[in-house]
Amino acid sequence: MAGTPLTVTGRILDTHGRPLKGALLDIWHADHTGSYDNTGFLLRGKLYTDDDGCYTLRTVKPLYDGEPGEMRPAHIHVKASSGKLPILTTQLYFKGDPWIHNDAGVRPSLVMSPRRESEGFVAKFDFVIKAG
Ligand SMILES: [Fe+2]
Repeated sequence: MAGTPLTVTGRILDTHGRPLKGALLDIWHADHTGSYDNTGFLLRGKLYTDDDGCYTLRTVKPLYDGEPGEMRPAHIHVKASSGKLPILTTQLYFKGDPWIHNDAGVRPSLVMSPRRESEGFVAKFDFVIKAG
C-alpha cells in the first residue's frame, strides 16, 4: 500500500520485567494521509508476542490527522493485554511530529524516535502491563 514502511519491534513485559509470551497487541492507525479505514480493516490488526515476549509490527507510518483547530499528531492506537484483564489502552507517537504538543495524551514515554533506513522507518517500543 502507499506510504512509507514502518517497522516497530519490542517486547511486552510484566511489571516485574518478565517477558510475556502470547500477549496481545490490538492495533489501529491512520494511513499516510491521516485517514482511517472506517469501512474495512485496513491498518487494523492483532499481534501476539512470541516465546520471548517479542513482537514485530510491519505497517506504514501514519500521518497526523484532524480538522483545522483540532489537529492531532500521528499516532498508533494500541490495546495491550495478557490473559483476560486488565487491558492497557494507549497510543504511540512520533518524535518530531508538527502536532506533538497539540495532544493531551502525549507523554514522553509514549514518543518513539524512529530511525530512517533504506526500507523505511524502524522503531523500538516495549510495553509494560499487568498480566491477567
Ligand atoms: Fe486516532
